[in-house]
Amino acid sequence: MDKKEAEKRIDELRKLIEYHRWRYYVLDQPEISDREYDKLVLELQKLEQEYPDLITPNSPTQRVGAPPAKEFSPVQHLLPMLSLDNAFTPEDLLAFDRRVKRILGEVPVEYVCELKFDGLAVSLRYENGLLTVGATRGDGYEGEEITNNLRTLKSLTLHLLCPDPPPLLEARGEVIMTYADFERLNEERAARGEPLFANPRNAAAGSVRQLDPKITAERKLDIFIYGLGACEGRSFSSHWEALEYLKKCGLKVSDKVRLVKSIEEAIEYCKEWQEKRGDLPFGVDGAVIKVNSFEYQERLGFTTHSPRWAIAYKFPAAEEITQVEDIKVYVGRTGALTPVAHLTPVEVDGSTVSRATLHNEDEVKRKDVRIGDWVVVHKAGAVIPEIISVLKERRTGKERAFEMPRRCPVCGAETLRLPGEAVTRCTNISCPAQVVERILHFCRSMDVEGLGPAIVVQLHKLGLVKDVADIYYLTLEKMLQMDRMGPTLAKKLLGQIEASKNKPLKQLITALGILQVGEHVADLLTRKYHSIDEFFQATEEELQTIPGIGPSTAESIVVFFRQPETRALIEKLRKAGVRLAEEKLKEEGVKPLAGKTFVFTGTLSRFKREEAEELVRKLGGEATGSVSRRTSFVVVGENPGSKFDKARELNVKTINEEEFLKMLKEMGVEGLP
Ligand code: IVH
Repeated sequence: MDKKEAEKRIDELRKLIEYHRWRYYVLDQPEISDREYDKLVLELQKLEQEYPDLITPNSPTQRVGAPPAKEFSPVQHLLPMLSLDNAFTPEDLLAFDRRVKRILGEVPVEYVCELKFDGLAVSLRYENGLLTVGATRGDGYEGEEITNNLRTLKSLTLHLLCPDPPPLLEARGEVIMTYADFERLNEERAARGEPLFANPRNAAAGSVRQLDPKITAERKLDIFIYGLGACEGRSFSSHWEALEYLKKCGLKVSDKVRLVKSIEEAIEYCKEWQEKRGDLPFGVDGAVIKVNSFEYQERLGFTTHSPRWAIAYKFPAAEEITQVEDIKVYVGRTGALTPVAHLTPVEVDGSTVSRATLHNEDEVKRKDVRIGDWVVVHKAGAVIPEIISVLKERRTGKERAFEMPRRCPVCGAETLRLPGEAVTRCTNISCPAQVVERILHFCRSMDVEGLGPAIVVQLHKLGLVKDVADIYYLTLEKMLQMDRMGPTLAKKLLGQIEASKNKPLKQLITALGILQVGEHVADLLTRKYHSIDEFFQATEEELQTIPGIGPSTAESIVVFFRQPETRALIEKLRKAGVRLAEEKLKEEGVKPLAGKTFVFTGTLSRFKREEAEELVRKLGGEATGSVSRRTSFVVVGENPGSKFDKARELNVKTINEEEFLKMLKEMGVEGLP
């Protein structure tokens, strides 16, 4: 390919990759399989290697490539990034509406209601559609330049995806970390003896303000865009219209935004999300209510520090006071001893809290929590409850300090805390608590939901399950040796175990419980490695070429696969018939479902709906959520919903799960459940 052709193809590939990244990370509706996506990236990487002068900082291949910075450079915001006035009650919102109308006159005012994301405010400058400057808020007038760090965020587009992007567009938004990723990060940090982040907001802010973009890339961050800053070459009449445009440009705007016609409806929105904030996978500390019309916004103007056209409604902090009844130590699957405070049950933010993890010995010391103390506990959304502070003035002198046990509370083996580490571990790898936790982790990751703690403990005590592979050698007879186990339940459990043999490789990799390899890392890994055997060959250097895999994770993976025990375990799994590779087509590269669209309705017996959808995509087809004339097949499981009726109405072909599987088999797909 000559340079001109290469240039054209590079441009095409970049647009294609950004488009599919947006489908996957922003819309959550991928159109192509991970492998096809990886192929596009590979093709681009090759062309860029051939023509290095065509590499630009906004190429999707360069998201993680930037070298560490020495310091952050200052950036002047084109328009100041102001803060918001706060409201704490519905009355405060009514007063805000009255103030707005005092200035505008008694006209109807529409409001846009949004969530108030609890993260770090950033500004993104796109020039002619290309991301050129990303900055923190700083003092509102001058922030810090963090463009290379923001480029590592998967849900952030490097090119605006709209046709004819304006010469200048500045988007404003908030970088956040989900509770799940925050907890994962803190667990990893606790295991490495690093200081923990107090909350997802600090974790997000700390991750974005890293001099080395590689570190930012390893943290899973997300971004929500909530407004427009400066813009040239395009004008909008309202905030809602601007949000719609930003969405069209491929920027991630929350789907929880709502346009309402009165302050009363805005109050409803605030109440609704105050109730439901716990359902969100990330933290929000309130809602933001904004006057929709830009003309009105202009007339309302600003005070010295905030706009008169917007207000933040702050949710009450979810905090309560309770007493520490005991501090008990739990042994995890890696042998780590975790002190957990047992609390007098107290209701926080709609749920009862009776335990709070204290992570490790140093955390207990740092917080100075003692048995008998009165403490403030906090629980925001789905986050694990946490002790925020100790009410030392309530101490009576009867409180007892906690000491990390010298012997494992489960097996009695010696415990060990290595110098420089924060974790104390039980030194016996056959410790029943560790084995049981490893098996439970495996079952959870492989969707064997029925094998919970009570059953696994019994199976282990009876000597029927000594390692994770043993579950595949259970028989009805063996199962019935357990207390309170009848044939119906036993058969159901054996069914779940059988079904788990065919789970995607990603789940198996997670299930193996390799240190530092959770669901997210397993997902990254299985984009490159498509069978367990390939993992045995992987080197640390090779693993580190995967964006998001750092040196310590790479080392942990290689060490895991080097163990003779791992090889023995994998062979045992292989013998039991557990799938150790991705589904394979007889002829690699054939896409038997290309051009076909599938909709699934009702409960399937052999897969979860997402798994069936992923399979369709892998095979080149499309899986969508709603039936249209374009749909090729509706696969009908048990208790189908309205999609079944819709299929009949539109005369779309319906098939059952067996027919679906038969169809795939006939197409030469192997390794089906
Ligand atoms: S609008 C001039 N909308 O809250 C108006 N801000 O106190 C600027 N925030 O630093 C802000 N979610 O980072 C707006 N939906 C949202 C928001 C939001 C979170 C943060 C923002 C700002 C702070 C304002």
